[in-house]
Amino acid sequence: MRQHKGYVPIAVMMLAIVVTVAIAGCAKQQSTAYKWTPITANETAPAAWNEHYPRQYESFLLNDEGGQGSSKYKGSDPVDRLSEFPYQLVLFDGFGFGVEYNEPRGHTMMMKDLLDVDASRRKAGGVCLSCKSTYAPALRDEMGVDYFKKPFAEVHEKIPEKNQKMGVTCVDCHDPETIQIRPTRFAFFDTLKLMGKGPKSFTKQDKRSVVCGQCHVTYVIQKDKEMKSVGLFYPWGESSWGNITIEDIEKAIKSDPANLEWTSKITGIKLGHIRHPEFELFTNNSTHWKAGLSCPDCHMPYERDGSTKFSTHHMQSPLKDDMKACRQCHDQGASWLRERVITTQDRTNNAMTRAGNAAAQAAKAIEMANKAPAADRALLTKAKSNYEKAYYRTVFIGAENSMGFHNPTEALRVAGDALYYAKQSEILSREALIKAGIDPPEKFDLELSKYNNRGDKGLKLIQALNKEFTYDGTK
Ligand code: HEC
Ligand code: HEC
Ligand code: HEC
Ligand code: HEC
Repeated sequence: MRQHKGYVPIAVMMLAIVVTVAIAGCAKQQSTAYKWTPITANETAPAAWNEHYPRQYESFLLNDEGGQGSSKYKGSDPVDRLSEFPYQLVLFDGFGFGVEYNEPRGHTMMMKDLLDVDASRRKAGGVCLSCKSTYAPALRDEMGVDYFKKPFAEVHEKIPEKNQKMGVTCVDCHDPETIQIRPTRFAFFDTLKLMGKGPKSFTKQDKRSVVCGQCHVTYVIQKDKEMKSVGLFYPWGESSWGNITIEDIEKAIKSDPANLEWTSKITGIKLGHIRHPEFELFTNNSTHWKAGLSCPDCHMPYERDGSTKFSTHHMQSPLKDDMKACRQCHDQGASWLRERVITTQDRTNNAMTRAGNAAAQAAKAIEMANKAPAADRALLTKAKSNYEKAYYRTVFIGAENSMGFHNPTEALRVAGDALYYAKQSEILSREALIKAGIDPPEKFDLELSKYNNRGDKGLKLIQALNKEFTYDGTK
């Protein structure tokens, strides 16, 4: 199997850039003290890169590490996200996310985590490998639509056995010939075409962010009539670069019924979904993006080994690393910087949790109205459309992995809108019921235990970690 077949033009282009840089920017190249040594094109296992790039390789292995460091909301333990934010049990009922949903951990764990998670989360099929395996682009080229459609295990088996548990590796972000960074994911290139943009137009800042953005983005798994997966893209078609909003994402999802991946059992509504939109939130006019930063500035700070400076490849929360990344630019101390992060996150959590609980109330109101034949259908339809808006917005903030820090003002705007639409939805369902002479309860019982598919496993984990989460937005 050939790796990354079809991306030769990019390799050639990158080579051209390297040559240009080598001529124009000699001083910069030398200061890194790296002798750029090509790696055999088909060599996917990171160990093979060790010989030439031992510092990057060794720091990459540290991604195995767990722990929370001084992080409040994140860190590298697979904390159960459903018990952190229990309203999600109502929002995700009928979907794999409602069965098992954990906080992310380090890059070296991804395939293991994908194989260990509840099988309902791999139901979409081979397509799940797209961000998790280096072999994904080649498998897609080889298998065509079957790559998306076939059961996960069948596609996974095609990966050489020794690499079946291997996640993202050097070759996913670096061209083995030139060692320059480059994205490799087909869904990313397909989406760029939708936006009328090509990799040639990338600035240095874009390049440093898109190697992360090829995976740390929301995506759509398109379905056929039998609800089998047939494609993968990022819902950015309505957006422009640097301004991908939740409004545009929602429009792109709703533009085609094939983009609706599941049906909410409680409300009966067919929905799309939002996953980890780090790239979208960060690049949408955040202060740091506007100041020219990219993901590696905060997640791959420079380290020194004697006289050599290198980027750590232990990509983790800056709060696990004593704010070292931030202190490259900010001269305030680590505790001041940490407090800025936590303040932003607490505010985002408060707004998001209020919105999430309101959306869960709205879902239960719709459930009651659905069951009442006399309830006003026009009002109920409006209630459902407001619920969809609340769903996409709440999930956008909940799935984004910085709890608002990547773009504090935008996160609060989206969470505020989520609350507004959730309240509208609930009011409309209540009106539909009242018009039919049915008196809805003052507050709906969320019946969380009914939707908790994992017993108290997750709750115990939280207690063990002694975390202080605000569940109801009132604390
Ligand atoms: C091939 C897809 C892919 C690429 C490329 C990628 N990531 Fe990730 N990243 C993931 C996945 C998947 C996880 C979650 C792994 C898990 O939970 O097992 C993750 C987790 C993380 C985490 C959480 C680590 C922790 O300890 O909790 C950080 C931080 C991160 N990535 C940053 C980055 C940065 C920065 C880049 C770009 C330099 C990047 N990622 C590129 C897929 C990717
Ligand atoms: C200005 C610094 C900064 C930039 C730039 C930045 N991040 Fe972050 N990121 C953070 C902070 C702070 C957190 C919150 C960590 C915490 O709460 O422990 C975070 C959290 C994360 C997490 C979750 C980490 C975990 O422990 O689970 C991921 C994944 C992530 N960022 C990816 C990205 C990606 C991808 C980009 C670029 C699109 C990016 N970040 C840009 C500072 C930054
Ligand atoms: C998730 C994406 C990603 C992965 C995986 C990755 N790198 Fe990198 N690497 C980067 C980024 C981003 C930079 C910074 C490039 C820049 O400064 O423009 C970088 C920089 C480098 C550099 C240049 C020197 C430095 O430290 O800044 C070397 C050498 C390197 N990586 C080797 C490796 C090796 C070896 C592996 C596998 C063990 C690897 N990389 C895996 C994204 C990645
Ligand atoms: C590469 C340099 C760089 C890094 C790394 C960096 N920042 Fe910044 N930060 C800036 C710049 C530039 C601004 C814009 C405002 C200014 O000029 O102070 C800024 C602004 C801020 C602000 C005020 C922005 C706002 O939205 O009100 C905070 C708070 C902040 N940074 C915290 C952090 C934290 C925490 C980290 C690490 C997770 C970090 N920064 C990493 C350069 C950086």
